[in-house]
Amino acid sequence: MRRPGDSLRASSVSRSFEGVHALRDVTLELGRAEITGLIGPNGAGKSTLVNVLSGFDRPTSGTVELEGRDVTRWSPSRRGRHGLSRTFQHSHAFRSLSVRENLEVAALGVGTVAREARRRAAELLETLGLTSQAEALAGTLAQGDERRLGVARALATRPRFILLDEPAAGLPEAEVPDFAQAVRDVRDDHDAGVLLIDHNMALIMGLCDRIYVLDQGRVLAEGTPDEIRANLDVAAAYLGESAVHDADDEG
Ligand SMILES: Nc1ncnc2c1ncn2[C@@H]1O[C@H](COP(=O)(O)OP(=O)(O)OP(=O)(O)O)[C@@H](O)[C@H]1O
Ligand SMILES: [Mg+2]
Repeated sequence: MRRPGDSLRASSVSRSFEGVHALRDVTLELGRAEITGLIGPNGAGKSTLVNVLSGFDRPTSGTVELEGRDVTRWSPSRRGRHGLSRTFQHSHAFRSLSVRENLEVAALGVGTVAREARRRAAELLETLGLTSQAEALAGTLAQGDERRLGVARALATRPRFILLDEPAAGLPEAEVPDFAQAVRDVRDDHDAGVLLIDHNMALIMGLCDRIYVLDQGRVLAEGTPDEIRANLDVAAAYLGESAVHDADDEG
């Protein structure tokens, strides 16, 4: 189904930080109109991979291709103008601008004309359930609204590929189903390829078409949710590590 030139691809990507091997020989492909999950314990390298894919970081070795073009050395904004967008694990919104203004600025940032930016902002307020908060300053938002603004800002550039780094973290449990539907809509209505990082396994299993498991910078497994669920080695590595971290959190 996936055509060459129709994907975002990391090929044999490694990234070291002074002795820390954050990514080791990672190959990952993200197709259009599908949701690809990226899971793994804290420190596995998930955010580093998103940074490398989106241009906020450069790999020590390996390449990134966007629709068949080598973009490894392209800036984030150049990748943005060519259809790639991301969210951050922590909010990067302009705190003293309103929610609506944040969306308009994001659209303008990729060269959208003002009228179209306003139209797109209004549409995204609706899609992400932010209409009642449109004139609120981003810095005053509750965590759930702030998470949705992050996704709306990334969508304001009309991406063909969107990388979501823990977009649901901190969302109230009751809001997760609506949020999941919004991510499905990105795939189905915008035909975008979505990379979704989250520690909520139920959300990942229910939403993703394919899943990659990272552990200590390596791809441990890749497959459908059923295949990943059946992979006991993965479960041991993932759940074992999570258990360790949960214990740390309590202590
Ligand atoms: N700028 C940096 N300088 C030094 N080390 C870094 C840097 N960025 C990441 N690392 C290290 O690389 C490894 C991978 O980190 P990364 O943030 O990618 O993990 P993660 O899978 O996103 O974790 P989490 O689930 O906690 O968000 C960690 O050991 C981290 O400390
Ligand atoms: Mg991370």
